[in-house]
Amino acid sequence: MMKRIYMMVGWCLSSMCLAGTSDGIVPGTVWPDDNGVHINAHGGGILFHEGTYYWFGEHKIEGAAGNRAQVGVHVYASKDLCKWTDRGVALSVDDDPDSEITKGCILERPKVVYNAKTGKFVMWFHLEHLGAKPQPYSTARSAVAVADHVAGPYRFLHSLRAMPTIWPENFPAELRNRFDAPDSYYTSSASWQEKAETHQRGLAVNTCFHAGQMSRDQTVFVDDDGTAYHIAASEHNATLHIRELDTTYTTYSGRYIRVFPGRFHEAPAVFKRKGKYYMVTSGCTGWAPNAARSMVADSMMGEWRELGNPCKGINPRNGLGAEKTFGGQSTFVLPVQGRQDAYIAMFDLWQPKNAIDGRYVWLPVEFEGDSFFIHWKDEWNLGVFD
Ligand code: GAL
Repeated sequence: MMKRIYMMVGWCLSSMCLAGTSDGIVPGTVWPDDNGVHINAHGGGILFHEGTYYWFGEHKIEGAAGNRAQVGVHVYASKDLCKWTDRGVALSVDDDPDSEITKGCILERPKVVYNAKTGKFVMWFHLEHLGAKPQPYSTARSAVAVADHVAGPYRFLHSLRAMPTIWPENFPAELRNRFDAPDSYYTSSASWQEKAETHQRGLAVNTCFHAGQMSRDQTVFVDDDGTAYHIAASEHNATLHIRELDTTYTTYSGRYIRVFPGRFHEAPAVFKRKGKYYMVTSGCTGWAPNAARSMVADSMMGEWRELGNPCKGINPRNGLGAEKTFGGQSTFVLPVQGRQDAYIAMFDLWQPKNAIDGRYVWLPVEFEGDSFFIHWKDEWNLGVFD
């Protein structure tokens, strides 16, 4: 019975907003795929390849168990960004309990890029091993999978801590090999201010220097010259790292910088417009929404300058406005092909108690000089870019 109602809701929505001339996007609602089933691609990103968009994201299952990877990474294909065809599971978790991506691990925010030199598709994601100690999120590794075909199957290649024994380019010599932290830091009673100051001084950069730097929320960005970058929340989520990848895109080159030490940016999403680099991020409050942030730079390797919260308006479906990013958290900014200045900001509306019900908020990005804004829209279509 439930399934029938769900299918009917899916059918109504698809006929209302995704079919015929009224093609469009209705942020924060059920988004049916070609089978009438809500799209299952959370924390996702999109790759445009040979005339088709491919949306990769975390496949979630029902209940809180869905916050762990029980299936893998799902992929959908679309020509128009509204109607999506289910292309199945691109990367499967493993039944082997010794695998790094064994069922029940945490596999988040997958992003796929194409390497024109090697002809391979490369997926990066945040990995936490099943059974990680002392906390489920203690692994803090990046992981890489590769495929010969865009929709997969992807093969797990390796996981890594970043750049062991290499200092960030912008980490001052006087902060190297220093481990100053107040006692409160070690008894977990430190205020946000104390934590921020401790991380500004680079405690985690120093403690992770030999094993390699941590990575949690992450994305990958390929620049026009083919140089790829991995952007990840590092240093216990206190500091973003921007790391150059090597020419295969499967590991690091050795160059990286810290961005806004101690500011606790998460959920990075990068895009480029008119030679400038932009980033949308969130603050650090787990599944609960907070205010989005944004920044701009003339080069991926900095200096980055904060621009503030780009969101405006209110989501009438949950009553949440810019102070809570309409209930969402950034995951990707998609350049729309064949249109100038057309970018879509993608957010997740997490549902941690029933992960599979997480919704997607996609909104057009608007520009004003060097700044950009993301206004809430109840319903919209690609005509806004005309
Ligand atoms: C969020 C993060 C998500 C997930 C979640 C777990 O801050 O962006 O990807 O890791 O925390 O609580």
